[in-house]
Amino acid sequence: MSSTFSAPKGTFDLLPPESEVYLAIREAMAAPLRRAGYRYVETPTFEQTALFERGVGESTDVVSKEMYSFTTRGGDHLTLKPEGTAGVVRAVIQHRLYAGQLPVKLWYSGTYYRYERPQAGRYRHFSQVGAEAMGVDDPALDAEVVALGMTAYRDLGLSEVRLLLNSLGDAVCRPVYREKLTGFLAGLELDADTRRRAELNPLRVLDDKRPEVAKQLADAPVIVDSLCDDCRAHYDAVRRHLGDLDVTWEESPRLVRGLDYYTRTTFEFQHDGLGAQSAVGGGGRYDGLSEDIGGPPLPGIGWALGVDRTLLAMRAEGVELAAATGCEVFGVALGEAAKQQLVKLIGELRARGVCADLAYGDRGLKGAMKAADRSGARLAIVLGERDLAAGTAQLKDLGSGEQDAVALADLVATVEGRIR
Ligand code: HAM
Repeated sequence: MSSTFSAPKGTFDLLPPESEVYLAIREAMAAPLRRAGYRYVETPTFEQTALFERGVGESTDVVSKEMYSFTTRGGDHLTLKPEGTAGVVRAVIQHRLYAGQLPVKLWYSGTYYRYERPQAGRYRHFSQVGAEAMGVDDPALDAEVVALGMTAYRDLGLSEVRLLLNSLGDAVCRPVYREKLTGFLAGLELDADTRRRAELNPLRVLDDKRPEVAKQLADAPVIVDSLCDDCRAHYDAVRRHLGDLDVTWEESPRLVRGLDYYTRTTFEFQHDGLGAQSAVGGGGRYDGLSEDIGGPPLPGIGWALGVDRTLLAMRAEGVELAAATGCEVFGVALGEAAKQQLVKLIGELRARGVCADLAYGDRGLKGAMKAADRSGARLAIVLGERDLAAGTAQLKDLGSGEQDAVALADLVATVEGRIR
């Protein structure tokens, strides 16, 4: 017996009709970005492993446990991208896009790879739509980016997405806070693993959801209390602009996020209908990332929205996306000569923007009419030898069953008239 294959663990195939919902979600996420001047960018599926080690950070789970890394035949160390920001910033530096108009505003849509423990909403191969705005550290830009994310969810019909907001400070105030937090953590009962994590990045411990750890963290110092004057002024301005843009948020002083490049404004979009994986999107400012990967000083802010989890959120809220326009007209030909004529007619309809299909193969009238019904089309064009001889075709309304003969010369115009 021959062996069969299935999609690897933690991955899935996107099949119609759900695959089309994915396309519609990506489109809806990108639309507000396009309206705000963001331009499309696409970077390679893999990058040098060191880009993520230095950009995303070696203390993160993403880099230390979840990367799909490999050595090529030529000896290069490459990694399938676990996220989009590092690659986009690399491209901006490489092509000196920062030498032009600032901010550089880019958006992208792609699939990303993380070797995570698969569960609902957490996959090893998943989709994001992302936005990055680089070159200025204006708090109004932070507010724009955050608001565009909220607009995308609203346009998708979601009403229960919550925005969690925090500031992580900068190179001036974060080290001071880090010291404070390290001192606090030293007095807690933590297992060896957590201690190690605390040494690498004490902020990451704040994210620990295990009750025995979370309980001890109740009185942990929070970074907003340690912000320097510049960071505080920036954060205040971001919140003022968000208020002006009618965006509501929840202060989330423990929000640290899973990637190391964040500075100042950080945020997450959450939805409670997803079970354990409540983050449908997230992002923040990353003012040091460019320099971390060898580029010039280049502040930046962005987000990525998870397409897979957004679909789950839509299901949880019972939101249906209008189905993509399917086939409107379906052609059925009986005999070779009729087939030849029909292929031409369907081609003309398609050229005029009508969504049209026809029965292929020789399945007889019954089989072909069944295919017409299954196609979801409103009209069927039925063309037999006798019709052809008379210069007509039968135009059948598949809803009502009514049928009439239409001259072949008028067929395209008649079809267009009936479906518009
Ligand atoms: P992230 O929070 O790691 O941020 O991912 C953003 C979103 O991608 C998450 O909120 C989630 O919806 C989705 N996601 C992440 N991992 C998975 C997974 N294993 N399965 C399904 N969905 C997943 C970033 O990736 C940053 N690059 C965002 C950013 C852009 N920050 C600044 N600019």
